[in-house]
Amino acid sequence: MSYKLFIPGPIAVSEKTLRAMSQPMIGHRSTDFVALYQSIQPELQALFYTKDPVYLSTSSAWGVMEGAVRNVTRKKVLNCMNGAFSDKWNDVAQRCGFAAGALKFDWGQPVDPEAVRRELATGAYDAITLIHNETSCGCMSDLPALMAVIRQFPDVISIVDTVSSFSGVPIKKDELGIDVLITGSQKALAMPPGLALFSVSKRALDRAASQPGRGYYFDFVEFQTNHEKGMTPSTPSIAHIYALKSKLEDIKAEGVENRYARHARLNKMVRDHMAAKGFKLFPKEGYGSVTLNCFANTLNIDLAALNKTLKSKHHLVIDGGYGKLKGKTFRISNMGDETDETIAAMLKSFDAAFAETPKLAS
Ligand SMILES: Cc1ncc(COP(=O)(O)O)c(C=O)c1O
Repeated sequence: MSYKLFIPGPIAVSEKTLRAMSQPMIGHRSTDFVALYQSIQPELQALFYTKDPVYLSTSSAWGVMEGAVRNVTRKKVLNCMNGAFSDKWNDVAQRCGFAAGALKFDWGQPVDPEAVRRELATGAYDAITLIHNETSCGCMSDLPALMAVIRQFPDVISIVDTVSSFSGVPIKKDELGIDVLITGSQKALAMPPGLALFSVSKRALDRAASQPGRGYYFDFVEFQTNHEKGMTPSTPSIAHIYALKSKLEDIKAEGVENRYARHARLNKMVRDHMAAKGFKLFPKEGYGSVTLNCFANTLNIDLAALNKTLKSKHHLVIDGGYGKLKGKTFRISNMGDETDETIAAMLKSFDAAFAETPKLAS
């Protein structure tokens, strides 16, 4: 059975993107590959708002998230934690053997810039991880305010995960002073999972160059050396790079500002619709994500039954809550190629399924 994904990644992939992926293979050390790689750099740099190169890693985002910590942490990394993915980053840093500070906020609360300032002012840290858009609870922290604080600590290398916000909202890497900006293919870029994209500042690259134990597969210096030849360190998923080229064409055709406006408009459409039904947004007011909505199950409905109906009768799937929020929240994505029409159709299906969904005994 085929059904459409409205979960916050992976999301629906267009026929055009899928067709792009099925082009004939080329050698990853061939001039054709170099031409392909170099042809997409200017548009990628524009989308990252950076003059630095944009590297392509055949891995999911976690590969580069872990790799980034290994490339730049010397003394101690501060992990800002306000949901499942940012919590896990602290665990990952420790598994890599680093001293890692846990700056914890309740899920759904944004990362507080003043708390970050207090922690960095201890002088204990030389790296920080931050998730711009905590997908698990639909919470978008105030990145400009956070970066304004982090910039005041010149020894601290910033690693920012924009996995589920990138290309849905503008994230101006150079202007904000982000050292390592990471995203993945399966969220707002609307490609299949399997490619991570990242850009690294000169000072982070310099830090990496003298960093022992940074490994090979995610070594920033390897990415830079190969980038200078128009290549990746190891054989990449060339199909994904074809897809990326196709997606960059789509973004250019739409206009990036129009793309941001569309994400904001569709996000509000879903939010308003659910508010009218009585569902409250889960994250703190003013910090709701623009690429997905995470609603509290304020009406105490049977989310598993709802999703079953949505899937079997309406051929679409939403998310019934991540981790400890399962059953307590539900999440609906508006990332990627969605339009007013596709979102309206999804909401109509939601209403029909909702009408036959039982409430849970409280
Ligand atoms: C904010 C965020 N960071 C990291 C990840 C992990 O990405 P991946 O599973 O592609 O490694 C996700 C996945 O949903 C995410 O939403």
